[in-house]
Amino acid sequence: MAHGTAVVSKVLSKEELCLLEKVAEPCGIVIFGASGDLAHRKLIPSLFQLAKDGVLPRDYYVLGVARTALTDEAFRGKVEEDLRNQADTGLKADFIKRCVYLSGDYGDPKLYQSLDGRLSALDEAHGIHDRHLYYLSTPPQLYEAIAGHLGQAGLAKPRAQGWIRIVIEKPFGRDLASAEALNRSLHEVFREDQIYRIDHYLGKETVQNILMFRFANAVYEPLWNQKYIDHVQITAAETVGVEHRAGYYDQSGALRDMFQNHLFQLLSLVAMEPPSSMEADAMRDEKTKVLHSLRPIGPDEYSRLAVRAQYASGGLNGDPQPAYRSEEGVRPGSTTETFAALRVEVDNWRWRGVPFYLRSGKRLAKRVTEVVVQFKPVPTSVFKPLMADQLTPNILRFRIQPDEGISFGFEAKHPGPKLCLSSVTMNFNYQDAFGVGQPEAYARLFQDVMLGDQTLFSRNDWLNQSWSFLNPLLDYWAEEKQTGLAFYPAGSWGPREADELLTQEDRTWLTK
Ligand code: BG6
Repeated sequence: MAHGTAVVSKVLSKEELCLLEKVAEPCGIVIFGASGDLAHRKLIPSLFQLAKDGVLPRDYYVLGVARTALTDEAFRGKVEEDLRNQADTGLKADFIKRCVYLSGDYGDPKLYQSLDGRLSALDEAHGIHDRHLYYLSTPPQLYEAIAGHLGQAGLAKPRAQGWIRIVIEKPFGRDLASAEALNRSLHEVFREDQIYRIDHYLGKETVQNILMFRFANAVYEPLWNQKYIDHVQITAAETVGVEHRAGYYDQSGALRDMFQNHLFQLLSLVAMEPPSSMEADAMRDEKTKVLHSLRPIGPDEYSRLAVRAQYASGGLNGDPQPAYRSEEGVRPGSTTETFAALRVEVDNWRWRGVPFYLRSGKRLAKRVTEVVVQFKPVPTSVFKPLMADQLTPNILRFRIQPDEGISFGFEAKHPGPKLCLSSVTMNFNYQDAFGVGQPEAYARLFQDVMLGDQTLFSRNDWLNQSWSFLNPLLDYWAEEKQTGLAFYPAGSWGPREADELLTQEDRTWLTK
């Protein structure tokens, strides 16, 4: 198979239909921030997973860049440590051998001169022709400087038949102005088609499957609108607290950390129109339109439609848990929200009048991410005296994680001489259906960058739109500080106010 070329629809077996199988061209992978947590916990193991899956290019190298002075050998020792759970095979030894290291100060032009020299030597040794992937997994305040230096050193412009791509980790800005400024700086050096803004939720199989479910099946799409859908709920609940990330999180909060990116991506996938194709821009056009259609929320509506809260002390699975304000690194009296809930409406022909309820929080009762679609009740009941609104409505549940799957709830007759109705579920479970676990989201995303496929990455206009929608609320909360911040016990399902967001409209949260 030729490298970088597509093989048209290929039937692998009766059950499996694969599209566009591509193989990436040989390239150099440069990880800035190579001594950091993300690199060792996610990036290196994901790359090795790709090596095991046989989808890395024929030739490649991994060049770690960071401030810490390390030799290639010492870096390889760390990589070996990252892969300690993997069997010692020839493949693993080969992967480790391909890892090399360069240290320097990100603000010093000398680092980029050394990088240039190192890349040329590595390219030559590996027979790679100017194809470089830069992964920025450094603190975000360094993104602009690194991109600028890469530009000045002539390392951002693709040469001859090569390519240069840059991957930016979240957070991408902390508000609209900073996101726009970062975009401007990146665009001074890189074209939009070279920029890959990561949202690891898009790398999750279950998130991508929302598209397959909607557009590869004929049954649900005709029902996918305000005529048949009552409302949609999106929950991303975590049991972990702020962990060791207070320095970042206390300046950020749930709205920036989870809504602006992950939850809005889920919302976009659920609400978007069918794209003209799976091409990156066709997809991203439709997702951006969803955000353009969000009905703006006015300040007089915030207290009714938006909730923010912080965890107080509590308990999880019998273990006492400290309050957020007592966690290490959190500012005393911090008003950062560790939980947020929002009611939004997508004001277009398809969705007019259908509420989308979004919530996410840390230190909640359970780790679960779900999209729940509740259908409207039947128009009238033939089972009188039971009335239509007494029948449990149909519920479609995308179980993003854990227990990955999709289920559909419907009413059935309970066996027996009496006419009794019961709610039952049809269930699809990934593990049972495919017998494999969920691959690491980062692996898929790495692969796509190498293939030059931006479908699963945020485009600048989507991102700006998402910030534009949330920015007024963030400003309002910043001004409001203490007032309006609710508290919830660690290990609970969040504050009462989040429940009221639904109960005021005779609904309840369906993810528990
Ligand atoms: C990250 C957030 O983007 O997503 C974290 O910064 C959060 O605060 C994490 O914990 C959740 O990801 P996942 O894949 O565990 O749902």
